[in-house]
Amino acid sequence: MAKSPINRVPWPQSASRPVVTPLQPSVVYASDSPDMLDAQYAGDLSGYSYAREGHPNADVLARMIDGLEGAEGGIVTGSGMAAVTAGILGAVRAGDHVLGGDQLYGRSLRLMNETLPAMGISASTADPTDVASMEAALRPETKLILIEVVSNPTIRVADLTGIAALAKERGILLAVDNTFTTPRGIRPFDHGADIVIHSVTKLLAGHSDATLGYVAARDPELRERINTFCVTTGLTPSPFDCWLAERGLLSFPLRYDRAEATTKRLADALADLDGVTRVLYPTHPTHPDHNRAQALLGARGSHMLSFEIAGGREAANTLVAAMPEIPFAPTLGDIGTTLSHPATSSHRGLTPEGRAQIGITEGFFRVSVGCEEPDTLISLFAGGIAAAHGI
Ligand SMILES: Cc1ncc(COP(=O)(O)O)c(C=O)c1O
Repeated sequence: MAKSPINRVPWPQSASRPVVTPLQPSVVYASDSPDMLDAQYAGDLSGYSYAREGHPNADVLARMIDGLEGAEGGIVTGSGMAAVTAGILGAVRAGDHVLGGDQLYGRSLRLMNETLPAMGISASTADPTDVASMEAALRPETKLILIEVVSNPTIRVADLTGIAALAKERGILLAVDNTFTTPRGIRPFDHGADIVIHSVTKLLAGHSDATLGYVAARDPELRERINTFCVTTGLTPSPFDCWLAERGLLSFPLRYDRAEATTKRLADALADLDGVTRVLYPTHPTHPDHNRAQALLGARGSHMLSFEIAGGREAANTLVAAMPEIPFAPTLGDIGTTLSHPATSSHRGLTPEGRAQIGITEGFFRVSVGCEEPDTLISLFAGGIAAAHGI
């Protein structure tokens, strides 16, 4: 490379190569000639031109998640919500209808209830644990169904098999947000999904230091439409976030297995404690969707559980104060355990009656279990619950 007048020095040549993926923050890529650039844009030569249109760190991460999901050509986006938006808006047009699960992530529900209608796309929700309820909510113009396999924070398990069969029979696209279950729990493409979505921010990246999403489509044409939507609307991720997430993803299977094993133990321990009125964990025998969870997920109950304590808001405040070691924070999938209180965070927009209808009371907590030493974690929860009940 010719010497740069502003003193940029060429990247040092090395006969050996780095073991770790280099971080490549360059926004622009210089080509040798207009012919070369032309060939790149025509797709005859592979090469990057401008980071919003794609960059190596996003592609490395996307290929890694593709491998986990059994996907091809997935796209990494700047957040999980960017992936949800791209998955929907890459697939539907004004006049279409989108049907969602009624317990989708709160922002996904807002996207459906507020953003899509403003664009001439109608949206409604139905209960994904009941395929008859989903079928009854279909309209002639329904183009896409969006569900999560395990709902947040009530941990209900969708009838993925039934909904996939229904979508196929009616020629409707099925999009599955697999953030909660992760590809280690289930691979939605193997169960008939057309689009798979992730908030990579969560367990895949795993350290609460990168905000990213991922969307993949089975059909190459749809994939291209979603990609164009992302590039045009600028949903592109930052190279540094992708680099961090790649590093996190390398330990994802280990973190998942550890967190899942601890979650199972924590579910059993909580169920035995005085003052705990409900424990929701998919593979726990008392779970309302236990049989479906067994059929869909096998033993893979994942790292999320919810529980309810007696004593309402006052007991809830005492519990949080008694466990300062556990961050009280409305996120999930971190390397460490976090605790959230849906009534005052994700579901504060609902009326108390609306919350009660889906089982979210003032004593209801959601736990995202991390990789701590299990006995220590269980005794922290036991201590917190004892304090909440003055035991
Ligand atoms: C299931 C699910 N989907 C999507 C999102 C949105 O992801 P992000 O916060 O990365 O935009 C979240 C965030 O919590 C989520 O839990």
